[in-house]
Amino acid sequence: MSSLILVTGGAGYVGSHTTVELLKAGYRVVVVDNAVNSVGGSQGKLPPSLARVQDLAQKSLVAYYCVDINDASALTDIFSKHHVDAVIHFAALKAVGESVEKPLEYYHNNVAGTLTLLQVMQEAGVRRLVYSSSATVYGAPQYLPADEHHPTGAGLTNPYGKTKYFCEQVMQDLAASDQEWQLVSLRYFNPVGAHPSGLIGEDPLGRPNNLMPFVAQVAIGKREELSVYGDDYDTPDGTGVRDYVHVMDLAEGHVVALDRLLNKASKVKGCVAYNLGTGRGVSVLQMIEAFRRASGKAVPYRVVGRRAGDVASVVASCSRAEEELGWQARRDLQQMCVRDYVHVMDLAEGHVVALDRLLNKA
Ligand code: NAD
Ligand code: WQD
Repeated sequence: MSSLILVTGGAGYVGSHTTVELLKAGYRVVVVDNAVNSVGGSQGKLPPSLARVQDLAQKSLVAYYCVDINDASALTDIFSKHHVDAVIHFAALKAVGESVEKPLEYYHNNVAGTLTLLQVMQEAGVRRLVYSSSATVYGAPQYLPADEHHPTGAGLTNPYGKTKYFCEQVMQDLAASDQEWQLVSLRYFNPVGAHPSGLIGEDPLGRPNNLMPFVAQVAIGKREELSVYGDDYDTPDGTGVRDYVHVMDLAEGHVVALDRLLNKASKVKGCVAYNLGTGRGVSVLQMIEAFRRASGKAVPYRVVGRRAGDVASVVASCSRAEEELGWQARRDLQQMCVRDYVHVMDLAEGHVVALDRLLNKA
């Protein structure tokens, strides 16, 4: 029988795309997600994102549990019900600004939650984990492109970033304590884009914090204009440069990392980190132009002051993932923009249809 993967946070943005790819690759999947940042899940009721995952993969999940990863007893029950071969751990809160306002919530959810999960895994004898980390662990990079040898943890300006760094430290200590653990930390750069179907993608509630969802909402007319946070950085056009990576490339990255964990011949030993990016930097103005080309619509913008905590440029070196996992990002900026646009259009149409129904007396 194929391996069984427990996916925490599988109803979310990166988790839902990865779950489609896992099912398509033949893995059996159990999802644990408390729906804190995914619409509509409850005990016994699949969130819409996971219903769409099943439709896209033409396969069913083994189970969905609307459970908080901090609930050790519920997690223990799940591990005793299912023979789990490995875990992919996406569940976390991720809004940088909110983490500054609510540090305890972030440390509790992201750090304590990860400790609980690891403790329950240890008790259940499951010692393979793929962890969602972030380029944020590099802080303001000392050199570019940042490779995995770049120091981590220095100059982190917000609790969210620190939670990612602390969890990586925990994983390293755990691997050092017991050679049975096989831990992979995937450091995503800036995930963007949506599934080619447009059916799943990023659906931020309220005002988006990140550039790409904001640009997409301006392109469909949901918002008037984009604020460009500074054009006086030391970059070719003065605006911030980032390494945007398509969420489908990330999803594939998780599948190859997992294949590697489960493959007896090429066993990962200890705790290994991999950057997942493209190695190419894109400025805010370049992103606006790419979106104009993808959607055929101008994206109105206004340059405002710098955003606190932002750095000029962050770009990945991905040679370790290429050499050791055989992974490389394949999608270009155009594909990232087109998919996001299609997905946001789909959501907008969904809202119009829902409104029509509300207003229709019949
Ligand atoms: P997301 O918010 O869309 O998905 C996270 C999912 O985890 C949500 O469905 C949420 O309901 C669930 N969740 C959160 N706390 C939980 C808990 N205590 N118990 C059970 N479920 C819980 O976020 P995403 O963008 O898909 O991010 C996934 C992971 O990748 C996160 O760990 C995030 O920190 C990391 N990451 C994201 C980005 C990014 O820009 N999207 C970049 C780097 C790293
Ligand atoms: C990208 C660029 C902004 C919005 C954040 C987290 C990081 C990671 C990914 C999880 C920057 C500019 C943005 C806007 C703008 N998440 N911008 N107007 O800051 O690189 O990374 O998300 O781990 O931890 O910090 O991404 O999309 O917010 O910004 O001009 O309305 O776009 O200044 O140059 P960032 P972002």
